[in-house]
Amino acid sequence: MERTTLVQHIRQQEKANPGATGEFTSLMNEIMVAGKIISLEVNSAGIGEDVFGLTGKINVQGEEVKKLDEFSDLTFTKIIGQSGTVCAITSEEREEALIIEDNPGKYIFMMDPLDGSSNIDVNVSIGTIFSIYRKKSLGNKVTDEDLLQKGGEQIAAGYIVYGSSTIFVYTTGQGVHGFTLDPALGEFFLSHPDLVIPEQGSTYSTNEGNWGNWDEPQKDLVAYLKEDAPATGRPYKLRYIGSLVADFHRTLLKGGLFMYPKDTKSPNGKLRFSFEAAPLAFIVEQAGGKASTGSQRILDITPSGIHDRLPLFIGSKKDVELAEERLAATVKKGGWFKWLSG
Ligand code: AHG
Ligand code: MN
Ligand code: MN
Repeated sequence: MERTTLVQHIRQQEKANPGATGEFTSLMNEIMVAGKIISLEVNSAGIGEDVFGLTGKINVQGEEVKKLDEFSDLTFTKIIGQSGTVCAITSEEREEALIIEDNPGKYIFMMDPLDGSSNIDVNVSIGTIFSIYRKKSLGNKVTDEDLLQKGGEQIAAGYIVYGSSTIFVYTTGQGVHGFTLDPALGEFFLSHPDLVIPEQGSTYSTNEGNWGNWDEPQKDLVAYLKEDAPATGRPYKLRYIGSLVADFHRTLLKGGLFMYPKDTKSPNGKLRFSFEAAPLAFIVEQAGGKASTGSQRILDITPSGIHDRLPLFIGSKKDVELAEERLAATVKKGGWFKWLSG
């Protein structure tokens, strides 16, 4: 049976891109190499040095950095930084953008090097999320024009799930394709060609522990999804892993609605535009789904800072549209304002 490797597939995609120089293929190849190294680390962690321990450091997000976060950030930064394909790297784990002076390339690489940190030491799926933009500003300097681009300017996005198997999913704007790592050969083979997300799902995915901090429209939406109304496919089942990359991968394959809304603790939402929302929004739209803040399309947003956070509603087209409609209706109905005025 014909087995397409990830590199072969990327080369085919690149051929479809006029003026492609092979630089993109080599960047994607380096991402794949870094992903294989992290996969090896995750699957053998605890046997070698203690990568599950805490570094005791706190990252720019104010979160305790576990060794695997750091290891993943360093691995991707070193390999991509030396690839000659990028002029800047931004990372959830680094306050500032890393500007590549020596042999810079034409791409900007953005990453959440290790997503799902809270699950690292309990053997639950974690992952890496990445996004690639082209340098826009003229001249050699990297400016905010390059680092703060509208989501829709991405030329590629992808994620790697380090789970029971290691899956690499990516898009360059020509559909979404998934590859599974054959650990014996150390090669990613095409396993999910042309992924399309179901138009409507039967699960919702959110941290209901935040219920007390949600506003009324959000509470109303989740209560609606839980109502017993079989004619409209309700109640929806709740599935929440706590690793965005795993919750998203399940949603992409099976359909449904993932939400990380704003709340009184995280007034702008918890998830990051550059490293989580924008890349997954590109992927889900390429698979026929939708991604918004609950009101604004993610890919229409231009961030004001590389660590911007925002609310995220992402998944099946009909489920995201339902969420947007109910959130808008509750606010319009005035129920919320009535509640506010007591
Ligand atoms: P990260 O580990 O990169 O900081 O991301 C964690 C994120 C995301 O993976 C997940 O959806 C969300 O945090 C879970 O947050 P809660 O624990 O608040 O539900
Ligand atoms: Mn993350
Ligand atoms: Mn992370």
